[in-house]
Amino acid sequence: MSKPRVVLGVGGGIAAYKACEVLRGLTETGHDVRVVPTEAALNFVGAATFEALSGHPVHTGVFTEVPEVRHVRVGKEADLVLVVPATADLLARAAHGRADDLLTGTLLTARCPVAFFPAMHTEMWEHPATRDNVALLRSRGLVVAEPASGRLTGADTGKGRLADPAEIVELARLLLAEPASLPRDLEGVRVLVTAGGTREPLDPVRYLGNRSSGKQGYALARVAAQRGAEVVLIAAHTAALPEPAGVELRHASTAEELRVAVHEAAPGCDVVVMAAAVADFRPATRAGYKIKKSEGQPDSAITLTRNADILAELVRKRTTGQLVVGFAAETGDERGSVLDHGRAKLARKGCDLLVVNAVGDGRAFEVEENAGWLLASDGTERPIPLGSKSQLATAVWDAVAGLVSRRARP
Ligand code: CTP
Repeated sequence: MSKPRVVLGVGGGIAAYKACEVLRGLTETGHDVRVVPTEAALNFVGAATFEALSGHPVHTGVFTEVPEVRHVRVGKEADLVLVVPATADLLARAAHGRADDLLTGTLLTARCPVAFFPAMHTEMWEHPATRDNVALLRSRGLVVAEPASGRLTGADTGKGRLADPAEIVELARLLLAEPASLPRDLEGVRVLVTAGGTREPLDPVRYLGNRSSGKQGYALARVAAQRGAEVVLIAAHTAALPEPAGVELRHASTAEELRVAVHEAAPGCDVVVMAAAVADFRPATRAGYKIKKSEGQPDSAITLTRNADILAELVRKRTTGQLVVGFAAETGDERGSVLDHGRAKLARKGCDLLVVNAVGDGRAFEVEENAGWLLASDGTERPIPLGSKSQLATAVWDAVAGLVSRRARP
C-alpha cells in the first residue's frame, strides 16, 4: 500500500519549530510528507531542515517548477493538509480565499480534509476578526483545532499556544482514518471524562495499582474538545501523555480522591464518561511509615476494604438529562463471552452507554489500538472495529452527539 500523503503547511510564527516534531512524528509512522512553508515561516526554520526531515524539496512560491503547476498538483494529490502553526494572518488569508503563495494556493485546490492548528497570542485568538475567520473556515467543514493554554512567546501565558505536536500527529492520523471525525457537534455540551488508573497506598512507597495508561480517557477528552465540547478531564495515574488542548485537566490519585473530584465536577456536566480504571478495593490500613520486611511473613495477607462504585453513584445521583457512559474491560470466561458480561454490566450499572472492551493477551491495556462494542440502554448494540483509541473515542462521541440532539429535540 502506498503511504498516505500529507501536506504540512507551516505558518510564520515562533511555533514553526514544533512543526519539525510533527513532521518527524508523521514520517516515522509511515506518512509521505511534503512541507509547504510560507516565506515568513522560513524566518523561523530553514528550508534545509524541512527538506532533510521530509526527504522532499521545499518551495514557498508558485513560480518554481512552473511547468508542473505545483500549486494545483500538491493540493490535489494530498490525502490530508495540516497547517502547523496556523497564524492569525494565515487563517485570515485562508478564510478569504487568497492564493498569494504556494500554501494558500494549495489550500484552495485541496479536496481532502484540511486541519489548521492555531498558535498566536491570546489577544489575536480572541479578536473578533480571528473569531469570524475561524467560524467561516469551520462553517466550510474545515477543521480549526482548539489551541492549548499555557506559556506563549515571551513572559505571557494564556490561550493560543500550539497543541502538543504528539497530539497533532494523533489527530492527523484520526482524520486520515475517518475524514469526518471532527465536526463541531458538541459545542455548548459540558463533558467530564476520567482517565488512568487509581493507586491505593499500602505505605508511603507502595501501592496497589493497575495497568491503565490513560490513553483512552485522554483520547476521549481530546476528541470531545476538538468537537467543541467544554471538557474537564480528571486524570488518575497515566503514562506520559500529551495534555489535550482546550481541556481543563485535574488530578486524583486514589479511588476516593477520584470519587470526590468526580462528584464535585459532575453536577454541572451534560455527559460524564468513566474511562478510569478505578480500584474496587483498597488496603484496609495505610501505614504512615515504610513497612519493614521484618514485620511480615511470606504468607501474610493484606486486608482489603471495598471502594465505592463511582459509576453506580453517578447513575443514582444524575441530574435530569445527564448522560452517563461507562467502560467495561472484560475477558470472557466459562460463564459467558465478553459481550454477555458487557450486557449484564450495562443492566447492573444502569448507565446510558457502556463501552465494552475485550482485554487480556495484550489487548486494550498499554497498547495503541482498541476494539469492542458500544451498548446503549435502549438495547442498541454496535461493534467498534479495531482502530486507534481516537477512533473508539469518535464512535463514543458520535453516539453521545446523537443522544444529546435527540434529547434537545424530542
Ligand atoms: N468504576 C467505578 N468505580 C469503581 C469501579 C469501577 O466508577 N469502584 C467504573 C469504571 O470507571 C468503568 C466501570 O465502572 O466505567 C466498569 O468497571 P469494571 O471494573 O469493569 O466493573 P466492576 O463494577 O468492577 O465489575 P467487575 O469487577 O465485576 O467486572
